[in-house]
Amino acid sequence: MALPSINPTTTKAWKKLEAHFENVKGLEMKDLFAQNKERANQMAINWEDFYVDYSKNRITSETINLLLELAEETKLKEAIQSQFSGEVINKTEGREVLHTALRAKATDTILVEGKNVMPEIFEVKQKIETFSNQVISGALKGYTNKAFTDIVNIGIGGSDLGPAMVVESLQYYKNHLTTHFVSNVDGDHVNQVLKTLNPETTLFVIVSKTFTTQETLSNANTIRTWFLEHAKQEDVAKHFVAVSTNIEKVKAFGIDQNNIFPMWNWVGGRFSLWSAVGLTISLSVGYKNFDSLLAGANKMDTHFKSTDFDQNIPVVLALLSIWYNNFFNAESEAVIPYTQYLTQFATYLQQGIMESNGKSVDRNGDLVNYQTGTLIWGEPGTNSQHAFFQLIHQGTKLIPADFIGFAQSLHGNQDHQDKLMSNYFAQTEALLNGKTKAEVEAEFEGQNLSAEKIKELTPFKVFEGNKPTNTIFIKKLTPESLGKLIAMYEHKIFVQGIIWNIYSYDQFGVELGKQLANKILNEFDNQAFDNHDGSTLNLLNLYKKLR
Ligand code: F6P
Repeated sequence: MALPSINPTTTKAWKKLEAHFENVKGLEMKDLFAQNKERANQMAINWEDFYVDYSKNRITSETINLLLELAEETKLKEAIQSQFSGEVINKTEGREVLHTALRAKATDTILVEGKNVMPEIFEVKQKIETFSNQVISGALKGYTNKAFTDIVNIGIGGSDLGPAMVVESLQYYKNHLTTHFVSNVDGDHVNQVLKTLNPETTLFVIVSKTFTTQETLSNANTIRTWFLEHAKQEDVAKHFVAVSTNIEKVKAFGIDQNNIFPMWNWVGGRFSLWSAVGLTISLSVGYKNFDSLLAGANKMDTHFKSTDFDQNIPVVLALLSIWYNNFFNAESEAVIPYTQYLTQFATYLQQGIMESNGKSVDRNGDLVNYQTGTLIWGEPGTNSQHAFFQLIHQGTKLIPADFIGFAQSLHGNQDHQDKLMSNYFAQTEALLNGKTKAEVEAEFEGQNLSAEKIKELTPFKVFEGNKPTNTIFIKKLTPESLGKLIAMYEHKIFVQGIIWNIYSYDQFGVELGKQLANKILNEFDNQAFDNHDGSTLNLLNLYKKLR
């Protein structure tokens, strides 16, 4: 069954939401809390080690009911069923979307073109486990018979961001191997990393679903050339492994058949860290932790597909995001993790969210007449408090924010953890309540300021408040809870794509720039550049002169 293709703005629920928005847009959340003492309990979901409080949103219970009606009318339930059962829901690329199969149980049956893919998935998982154990234990050695000390992941986009984010996030669980990531085609990136490496003890993991990506192949070639300055051709087999769907191209690069970790077309690049794309994760934190990450994601999958929508974390978060994006016209969302370990989390989500839902043509092939994908950005608290929070608190834009926090620190310094978490709780409270003129004036009392000065300063010190936040409060940062968190956002992306009636799993928008870059690259050696606008032509000529 094809995905439904319903323009959400034509649904009854959308019309009701528009009318409802007019009634509630001016409501103050602090009044809603005062009127309903049960609000915080009613608007929270307690699931496993997650507590998701969405009560600090500009909503009433009717808002949620109408958003749930929207989900119903746009046939979200049926779409979830289509995704999990392996239907070709990535229609523009003619593919199934089955990253959920990668973390499913061995006993599950998931069919792709009539064939159960679970045995293949577990075969590759076994290969990842065996290889990781051999590298970590030192059993597998380099060309001078030394154990490996460094791993270099060579990939870009989904073949880099996921593994890089997870390795950074799970640093606490890391083993002795030093992990590096080379992604940018910028030669300074790869050369900077190479400077720190010893070829005798470095393992290179080339990750490219297509094995045609310019950046990855250029970096892999540069690295192989550097390696061959130290070692012999036959040593390549000991130091280079690849993850790809394109086995022929990998072999042509010179990678040993045994060193190929396959993946499948039904795994989208930005959802691929659960596949062999996660090899670097497994090498860095051990297979057991990698498997826990997958197990966490699998638990979130079960929650997502089997929980009623009003208690379904990804569904509720997606609906709230639609509420702000399409009714309040909010353009962006912030994700603020209160742990330094999640430094790369927002960057990772940028690809997941913006490459998936940055679309303006609907599933009927028509231009949409409503807003789709949100801008996503963020940095860990408390650093971000000293950077961009000013704008969230007192700027002119409405920026809904997810606050992700963990009750327990990993290193156990309670003093720091209490300070960190006091900020975590205080910020959402401050964004909710703001500070009134009367409160500002009261603060001035006893400060020995003239009435005139107080009058002058007061407007600058007032906080409007009424700024929406979700609090995602998790017991502890573990491989399993991280897996749940990532899968939560993956499903949020899916829900939004379904309701916005767009295809979330293609990414044609990245092609045009690539094509033009190839054309320009070919022109660098020509006498003249052809067919460019005046601005680009001037810049190209200047580059040619200066390079
Ligand atoms: O940015 C476009 C894209 O196709 C991403 O979707 C993908 O993750 C990335 O390029 C890398 O692709 P590959 O894994 O095929 O090298």
